[in-house]
Amino acid sequence: MTWPTPTRIVVQLDAGRSPIAGSLTDPACRVRTFTGWVEFAHAVSAALATASTSALRPPLETTMTITDAAPSTRYLLDAGWYAERDRLNSLTRLYDPTTVDLCRHLGLGSGWRCLEVGAGTGSVAEQFAAEVGSTGGVLAVDLDIRFLQPLAGATLQVEQLDVVRDRLPAGQFDLVHARLLLEHLAAREQVLASLVNAVAPGGWLVVEDLDWATSTVVDPPSDAHRIVADACMALFAGHAYDPYYGRRLPRSLEQHGLLDVGTHAESKQVRGHVRDGVPQWELLADQLAPALLARSMVTQANLDAFHALWHDDQTLCFAPLMVSSWGRRPPLLSQSDA
Ligand SMILES: C[S@@+](CC[C@H](N)C(=O)[O-])C[C@H]1O[C@@H](n2cnc3c(N)ncnc32)[C@H](O)[C@@H]1O
Repeated sequence: MTWPTPTRIVVQLDAGRSPIAGSLTDPACRVRTFTGWVEFAHAVSAALATASTSALRPPLETTMTITDAAPSTRYLLDAGWYAERDRLNSLTRLYDPTTVDLCRHLGLGSGWRCLEVGAGTGSVAEQFAAEVGSTGGVLAVDLDIRFLQPLAGATLQVEQLDVVRDRLPAGQFDLVHARLLLEHLAAREQVLASLVNAVAPGGWLVVEDLDWATSTVVDPPSDAHRIVADACMALFAGHAYDPYYGRRLPRSLEQHGLLDVGTHAESKQVRGHVRDGVPQWELLADQLAPALLARSMVTQANLDAFHALWHDDQTLCFAPLMVSSWGRRPPLLSQSDA
């Protein structure tokens, strides 16, 4: 009798983490992240279950490596990557209309002072500037302002800053908005406090972040999508990314003392395109591909299958849920109320 090829499970442990944490790549190249021994045990048994779908349970071979660096809190995506602008454009096309409608609904209009934090390409800041006109103003800030600088003008000011380290102007803005920012930051609660502090009394904070609950909903079902999406999420998780921050947003806003907290969540459905593909997925995977391959989180065949999927117009997928949450800073009490 000949035994099938041994099953290989690759476990990567994050150095210096207590409780232990890391990721495990099962025989079907699925990546499972874990924190603590209980989750580790679940991940191993799930990987064994994958292996045992063969009639003969193959002998198990486990390789374990420990990554040399502690988990990084650095923002993982690179504004200097050759197609980052295209990747961000594909996101703004998808999400800007809801953002701007929501802010208009909260009263955004002529004369408002707005702060756009982690402004990216500046597409939202530009639309805010058009809404507030010459009697208002917009300040757009980001760690990297290469896309913002050309937009600077009388109504739209641009400033380079690190929202984790640097102070935001306090109590000055009728509207403070941050989209796809806090989910990336280890210090998200500290930054949220500083966003709240930037809002003028009675003004609005709008925060929008993803929740990846819907990200594996693909029709027809696709292993390639699940493998690559899970791997991207696991890689982000090692850089402090919280893929489920969206669902926690309303509670966080309330805990920071905001009033009239409201939430809207929607998942856009995207469709493969024979020529254009689906840039928000493909360009994310392309930018992360070297890191994913170097850590054996995906194979080149997985990536090829992933790209083929998005160039097939039969592919329909729900993008991650975009959760928009808003709340109002308590107004100052007037003399007569005091
Ligand atoms: C995913 S992009 C989102 C861009 C834009 N908000 C949007 O929704 O289109 C995240 C942005 O946050 C910026 N960013 C990340 N960390 C930051 C920090 N610590 N301080 C300021 N900006 C930061 C990045 O440079 C990037 O432009």
